[in-house]
Amino acid sequence: MKPLAFLGALTLPVALVAGLAFAQSQVGTAAAVESLRGADPDVDVTTAPVFHQNKQRFVRNYRLQPPLIPHSIDKYQIDMKANECLACHEWRKSGERGAPTLSMTHYQDRDGLQTDTVASRRWFCSQCHVPQADAPALVENLFQSSGQ
Ligand code: HEC
Ligand code: HEC
Repeated sequence: MKPLAFLGALTLPVALVAGLAFAQSQVGTAAAVESLRGADPDVDVTTAPVFHQNKQRFVRNYRLQPPLIPHSIDKYQIDMKANECLACHEWRKSGERGAPTLSMTHYQDRDGLQTDTVASRRWFCSQCHVPQADAPALVENLFQSSGQ
């Protein structure tokens, strides 16, 4: 065995044991961790649905803002294989569904090539778009719209 490989073989179990000991020492202090709302992360909280229907699309606060979703999305599945948002928003379907078509940026891959189907980097819609919600701000927000 080369000396370096031997060292590697030795350090891995040592690191594992050290990690385990550290994890165990943390168990007792978990209750001290608080979320921004001051909630204990160990306790499951039932949350009311945050979506508040305004029946209208919100004005964007800056030109490239992903628009807020003006409808509930609880029932629409998005995973590796399925994306139910596309049933209404994909360019082939949006006309008959009366939904806004995905803009061109959703049909451009990372090399700038135009695609006919939604680009993989735009697949997980909720990564950028969130439903409208009437949630109190957790921290002070000094943002000012560039549109005013
Ligand atoms: C059953 C059809 C349908 C499905 C499914 C659907 N939408 Fe929509 N969506 C609409 C319609 C219709 C509107 C336009 C509502 C309006 O103009 O008031 C809309 C509006 C939007 C907007 C606002 C666009 C803007 O310019 O303001 C976004 C963002 C959006 N949807 C995202 C989503 C996402 C993300 C999903 C999946 C989680 C989804 N939608 C699933 C029909 C649908
Ligand atoms: C990486 C972020 C990102 C992802 C992922 C994403 N979008 Fe968007 N979306 C945006 C941005 C930014 C805009 C506004 C600028 C633009 O049109 O490109 C937008 C605009 C839109 C619009 C309005 C188009 C218009 O012309 O008014 C709709 C509808 C929409 N997105 C739906 C979706 C749906 C449905 C998905 C999932 C298939 C999705 N988006 C995925 C960032 C994203």
